[in-house]
Amino acid sequence: MNLTPNAYAFIGLTAIVACLVTVLTYSVLRFAAAARDTRSQLRGAGAETAFLSAALQEAVTKLKAQERATAARAEASERLSGEIISSLTAGLLVVGLNGEIRIFNPAGRRMIDAPDADSTAPYERSSREQPLFDVIDECMTTGNAIVRRAVELPDEGNGATHLGVTVSPLSDEEGKLHGAICLFTDLTAVKDLEEQLRLKDSLATVGELTAGIAHEFRNGLATIHGYSKLLDLDALPASYRPYVEGIRAETESLSQVVTNFLNFARPAQLALARVDLRAICDRAAEEVGPDARALGGDVAVHGEFAVVDGDEVLLRQAFSNLLRNALEACAGSSIAPHIVIQADVEASQKVMRIAVNDNGPGIAPALRERVFRPFFTSKRNGTGLGLALVQKIIVFHNGRIVAGSSPEGGASLQVTLPIKQ
Ligand SMILES: Nc1ncnc2c1ncn2[C@@H]1O[C@H](COP(=O)(O)OP(=O)(O)OP(=O)(O)O)[C@@H](O)[C@H]1O
Ligand SMILES: [Mg+2]
Repeated sequence: MNLTPNAYAFIGLTAIVACLVTVLTYSVLRFAAAARDTRSQLRGAGAETAFLSAALQEAVTKLKAQERATAARAEASERLSGEIISSLTAGLLVVGLNGEIRIFNPAGRRMIDAPDADSTAPYERSSREQPLFDVIDECMTTGNAIVRRAVELPDEGNGATHLGVTVSPLSDEEGKLHGAICLFTDLTAVKDLEEQLRLKDSLATVGELTAGIAHEFRNGLATIHGYSKLLDLDALPASYRPYVEGIRAETESLSQVVTNFLNFARPAQLALARVDLRAICDRAAEEVGPDARALGGDVAVHGEFAVVDGDEVLLRQAFSNLLRNALEACAGSSIAPHIVIQADVEASQKVMRIAVNDNGPGIAPALRERVFRPFFTSKRNGTGLGLALVQKIIVFHNGRIVAGSSPEGGASLQVTLPIKQ
């Protein structure tokens, strides 16, 4: 078949168009497939990012929870150690190398009468506390622990404080010393008990040893006194009379001393009964009241009293001796006596305290123990047995007596007695 040139041209053109359509279709299909691939790829990548961010979020939440738990644990452990420190009944003192106080618990402060914790103000050591700090300094200087050392803080009016002290050096992880930790307990009550037993013992020995001699003495004195009484003064030359009168006066006063001493030395035998101390003190106050008023003063009884197991006669003797001493001290210094009996019950310790306070010259700190010794007196006519007898009576009632100073600057004789529950 013969085709015209036009027909050839038409066929060629058609073929070209067909080719172009094929190429175009193929390209469109490729493009669509590629777009589909990209879309699905993009969808996968989004899921991964979301997963990663969720994991990250979870880790952050966990970390935050852990951090909160750690902070709570630290806070709880800090609270616990704070509670332990403040509830310790022993004294706890932690000191740095430069002497700065890092921890000083409330019980320790109470024990040595230190001021309450004031976290901002630096701690000022008082001279009374120095013996305690000396032990701590010794530990930091030598680097050696000090175990159960007895330390006495001096008396500042209310008696000395006895402490049992243990100090250990404080070192860091490398063993470098950076302070000391000191634990201490108040042994004053134990010391007092020891003292009470010692006193009871020595009073009993003194009594046994000397009561016999005093008896003999009194018999001899009674004989001398009796013979001197037989001498008729009128029958004697006038120049001899003063000698006989002297013998009579001296034997009388000596036999008074011996009687007092026998009272003191006689083995204590208590007739125990329920004794109302308020009644005892009221009666003692009534006894000296007229003398006090005659000197322009008065006697007052204040506070709360309790009932004790005691010997009424002896306890009355003890308190009337204390009031008489207060009166004599004021009178001796020409002071109008204002005497106060101040009583307090300390139910927790099962004791009551009775202080006989006066506004007289007081008792010098150096004499506060000596005034209880037999024959210690500052009075011309005193036997010096009054307070020795008072002490004996109180000690045999399982109590104690100390001399201190009263709020008015005079003497304060402080009696502590166990109370009946
Ligand atoms: N309230 C007081 N104020 C000041 N000093 C006192 C007081 N009580 C006692 N004293 C001192 O203690 C000393 C001893 O007292 P104590 O009662 O033992 O003997 P006294 O009073 O001297 O003699 P006595 O009691 O035998 O008459 C007194 O001489 C006095 O120096
Ligand atoms: Mg006296």
